[in-house]
Amino acid sequence: MSSQIDHLLEENREFTPSPEFAANANGTAELYERAAADREGFWAEQARELLHWHKPFTQTLDWSNPPFAKWFDDGEISVAYNCLDRHVEAGNGDRTAIIFEGEPGDERRISYAELTAEVKKAANALESLGIGHGDRVAIYMPMIPEAAIAMLACARVGAIHSVVFGGFSADSLRSRVDDAAARLVITADGGYRKGRVSALKPAVDMALADRGHGPQETVEHVLVVKRGGNDVEWTEGRDLWWHDVVEAAPAEHEAKAFPAENPLYILYTSGTTGKPKGVVHSSGGYLTQAVFTNKYTLDIHPETDIFWCTADIGWVTGHTYVVYGPLALGATVMMYEGTPDTPHPGRFWELIQKYGITILYTAPTAIRSFMKSGRQIPQQFDLSSLRLLGSVGEPINPEAWMWYREVIGADKTPIVDTWWQTETGATMISPMPGVTATKPGAAQVPVPGITVDVVDENGEPVDNGNGGLLVVTSPWPSMLRGVWGDPERFKETYWAKFADKGYYFAGDGARKDEDGEIWLLGRVDDVMNVAGHRLSTTEIESALVAHESVAEAAVVGAVDEMTGKAVVAFVIIKESYLSQHAPEGLAGQLRLWVGEQIGPIARPRDIYIVSELPKTRSGKIMRRLLRDVADGHEVGDTTTLADTAVMSIISAQVK
Ligand code: PRX
Repeated sequence: MSSQIDHLLEENREFTPSPEFAANANGTAELYERAAADREGFWAEQARELLHWHKPFTQTLDWSNPPFAKWFDDGEISVAYNCLDRHVEAGNGDRTAIIFEGEPGDERRISYAELTAEVKKAANALESLGIGHGDRVAIYMPMIPEAAIAMLACARVGAIHSVVFGGFSADSLRSRVDDAAARLVITADGGYRKGRVSALKPAVDMALADRGHGPQETVEHVLVVKRGGNDVEWTEGRDLWWHDVVEAAPAEHEAKAFPAENPLYILYTSGTTGKPKGVVHSSGGYLTQAVFTNKYTLDIHPETDIFWCTADIGWVTGHTYVVYGPLALGATVMMYEGTPDTPHPGRFWELIQKYGITILYTAPTAIRSFMKSGRQIPQQFDLSSLRLLGSVGEPINPEAWMWYREVIGADKTPIVDTWWQTETGATMISPMPGVTATKPGAAQVPVPGITVDVVDENGEPVDNGNGGLLVVTSPWPSMLRGVWGDPERFKETYWAKFADKGYYFAGDGARKDEDGEIWLLGRVDDVMNVAGHRLSTTEIESALVAHESVAEAAVVGAVDEMTGKAVVAFVIIKESYLSQHAPEGLAGQLRLWVGEQIGPIARPRDIYIVSELPKTRSGKIMRRLLRDVADGHEVGDTTTLADTAVMSIISAQVK
């Protein structure tokens, strides 16, 4: 199979940072030069400058046994101390660490002094339950401050947390608890989602119920935060209320240091198929790149910014850009419990206005759903506090990028499109605001100190203007250290394809533009071979989203006798368009439009207008299921969908 991916999209807009933004930005062009001159030295310098080491390291990178990397190996560090105590000791205890708003509208502001005090108590509580260095703790929580407190308390005692997204089922929780052999589960009675309490404790009870078949029961206790106020079933001896145990715990707790390579957490990622993999992250290396990218890529100024990353703590984005990175920097983070459309579709914008959020970091799927409901909603709010916008999780279509900049960013805020993965731990490719002239839809350049390339099947770099496979060509501080309990799977999944070169293969397609900058093209599994051309889903979707009527699009390759694969598109139309135009004939217009925009080869054979797209709980489109519909097959496994009813709606609409 050829790895060449044909390039169709032409996008020539470019936005240079304003002189005012550049003058105040943390990042400078000089960072790239320093990193290029001595990559490892650069990371050592960042680790020393940005973090406190209880025991300084003398060795930067040990790559003697690839792909098992060690960074800052002889150093000792306390992640919790870096995120908490040191800010208090530096006199910043009064600074707000977390601004929390619950979905019903309840508010809490937690200062660094208060957060430190809470985490100390929680750490004592964990130790009183026998949890210590190396133990695994599953955290199954709503988006409330106790989730962050639980994570930091684990870090403080050297335990390894495994956060399981609160929207996952009892079965998913069970398999993750079993795989990690967790001794403790921290949960809540429930949390507020879409205007009602969504229960969590019953799922924990189910996950831990007599299993007979499963491995030996490892969970000794379940610690339950009271949030939703629901009645819960109680297993005496096992279940404990958080408020009883934590409130009773002693207030003082010394932050002990652990070796830099001590695992900080496991985070399970399913990829698109298969048994979830427990991605393992370290302490020192992870925190270095987390704090570095918060400071330079997201340009957070801890004294003045109010930073809102909208991701749930159940995802890696919530780990690196809600908890560890911003708190290590001493920044103020926003944490919102609920959904963006509850109780009204302008909730996000209302929160930005209310708290004066200065930096917003969200996902393309959210941006496209805001586009679908229309700009008149954000326009009712004062968004003038915003000075920087970020995007993460999927390729952002150029038109969605433009909408984000114009409607949310008042046509002036820079946008950073940040490419990374659960496995990479922190951002790898992104413009640097204040330095990079941004291009709508492109992640553009590797972060200083990171080396990536786009290569062909033999690992040879493609020329500028061409597409291929995205690889990371040298180890990086926040790289995953392995797959929990399965070193072979770690090697096989990420390192086997280009073993001779030592490249990490990310599973994504990308192209280099004429300037050598990088544009993500989606997962290579989604690439379609149409009449001998390898087309990426991303570019055709972007062409569709560029039409005035389209809010969201998903493209798949369906079996076709003539061409091998044919392009089939599923589109969601903007509400504003539907209120003024009849949908008749629109599919035909869109076919022609794609042909004009990017060429006849990409013209969809079929276009279906639908009201929903199948998405994972983190918002990624599951094209595999749409492929089943396009091929007229029985729809495959839908258990990882956020809303399992969506596929029957789509199948009905297609018929
Ligand atoms: O396909 C890429 C896409 O999301 C994948 C990683 O997903 P996950 O591990 O859930 O992490 C999400 C948070 C980082 C990648 O392999 N992806 C992520 N960010 C981008 C992206 N695709 C294009 N552009 C991005 N900025």
